[in-house]
Amino acid sequence: MTGFLRLGVNIDHVATVRNARGAGYPDPVRAALLAAEAGADGITAHLREDRRHITDDDIARLAAELTIPLNLEMAATDEMLAIALRHRPHAACIVPEKREEVTTEGGLDAAGQFARLEPLVGQLRDAGIRVSLFIEPDARQIDAAIRLGAPVVELHTGRYAELDGEARTEELRRLSDAAALAAKNGIEVHAGHGLTFDNVGPIAAIPQVRELNIGHFLIGEALFVGLDDAVRRMRDAMDVARG
Ligand code: PXP
Repeated sequence: MTGFLRLGVNIDHVATVRNARGAGYPDPVRAALLAAEAGADGITAHLREDRRHITDDDIARLAAELTIPLNLEMAATDEMLAIALRHRPHAACIVPEKREEVTTEGGLDAAGQFARLEPLVGQLRDAGIRVSLFIEPDARQIDAAIRLGAPVVELHTGRYAELDGEARTEELRRLSDAAALAAKNGIEVHAGHGLTFDNVGPIAAIPQVRELNIGHFLIGEALFVGLDDAVRRMRDAMDVARG
């Protein structure tokens, strides 16, 4: 059976625009509240180590003001663990992070970093935070997620979004297979990165996927149609694909 597909709206790039001038606007928390009114099921924010977009204060305000779940994207560091334990978001998505990258390039090497991740995942889980691992659609990474006891994996759709033709179809197959494997092992499947109105359909149609996290495109589209409209249209595109 195909269950309801949640939409998590990532508001990082509202903060990117704000930080370009060092002014107090546009406010990512205002965007989050608006996205919630438009039908977002959750809000995602990535507190990067270099604080290039979301800041500590944004996370504190999101944690205090949101009435829908907050998904904190974070690197597997002691600093980020302490912040997550302080604010206790609904979920924490562990992502790989390189200072020089423009965005999160590639998934977390959960298999290669098993020893580092194990205590971190355990502490988050003990604090009641739903841990998600942002991984490539790869059986080895899913196996590591199972062994780590992560309740959720988020499959990286960045390659799918960049490819076209037969290569995209092949990547879609990898994503579908990975989703089926994770779900068969009791792991909830999310997906995200690079999703737009045009490419979201086939990902939304993967029956095991329960949540999509979408940011950059929606914030860009909001310049033309408003955030409310952009979120509603994405919700519609997801619902149509889901059937
Ligand atoms: N999911 C994760 C784990 C991410 O790191 C990002 C980018 O911050 C997204 C989803 C959203 O990607 P995009 O901004 O391309 O929609």
